[in-house]
Amino acid sequence: MKFFIDTADLDQIRQANELGVLDGVTTNPSLMAKQGISGEKNLHAHYLSICEVIQGDVSAEVIATNYEGMCSEGEILANLHSQIVVKIPMTIDGIRAIHHFYEQGIRTNCTLVFSLSQALLAAKVGATYVSPFIGRLDDISSDGLQLIQDIRMVYDSYDFETEILAASVRHSMHIVNCAKIGADVITAPLEVIKSLAHHPLTDIGLKKFLDDYQKTSS
Ligand code: E4P
Repeated sequence: MKFFIDTADLDQIRQANELGVLDGVTTNPSLMAKQGISGEKNLHAHYLSICEVIQGDVSAEVIATNYEGMCSEGEILANLHSQIVVKIPMTIDGIRAIHHFYEQGIRTNCTLVFSLSQALLAAKVGATYVSPFIGRLDDISSDGLQLIQDIRMVYDSYDFETEILAASVRHSMHIVNCAKIGADVITAPLEVIKSLAHHPLTDIGLKKFLDDYQKTSS
C-alpha cells in the first residue's frame, strides 16, 4: 500500500519523507490556502518545491469548473513536472476532462468521490487515482470504509486499473482498515501517519528496558 501525505506544508512533507514511508503528496485548494499560497505563479512554484522534496506523485488540483478550463489548466499543471498528477473534481465536466487527459497520457486523480457510482465513472474514463473521502462520509454517519470495500470489489471484478486512494483519513484505524480491505493508497496528515507507531505497551516496555539497564550499569 502506498502512503501519501495530505498537506501542502513543505516542512511536514520533509518530515514524512525522512521517515522513509512517503510515496507521494496530495494537495487541494484549502491546503494550499492554509500555507498562505495564492495566485497561479505562487501555486506553480509551490508545486515545484514539493516535487523537489519528494520523488513520488504530487496531486495538484484545478480551480476551473468547466471542461475547457479544466483541460487548459490541467495541461499547464502536468507540464510543470513529471511527478504532477492533475486532480479533477467528480463532476460531469470533470469526467470529460479526465477522459481527455487519459487520451493525452496525462495522469489524473478524481477527487471529491463519495459513492460507488462516482467511482465507477472515474474508472470508466481512465482516472489514474480515485479519491473517496472516507472521513467526510463518517462525519455524516455514512460508512467510508464500506465504500472503499465496495469500490475494491467492483474494480477487481472488471480489472479496472484505477488505483483506490483513500482520502480524508482521520486516524490510524482508518489506515489499518484500508490496508485490510485493499486500498491501493492512503493519504493522511503527518500526525495520523506517525500515530501508526504508537502503542502504550511499547512505551512501557521501553521504559522498563532502560530502567533495568540503568540499574546494572550504576
Ligand atoms: C484528498 O485528496 C483531500 O485533500 C483530503 O484528503 C480531504 O481531507 P479532509 O476531509 O480532512 O479535508
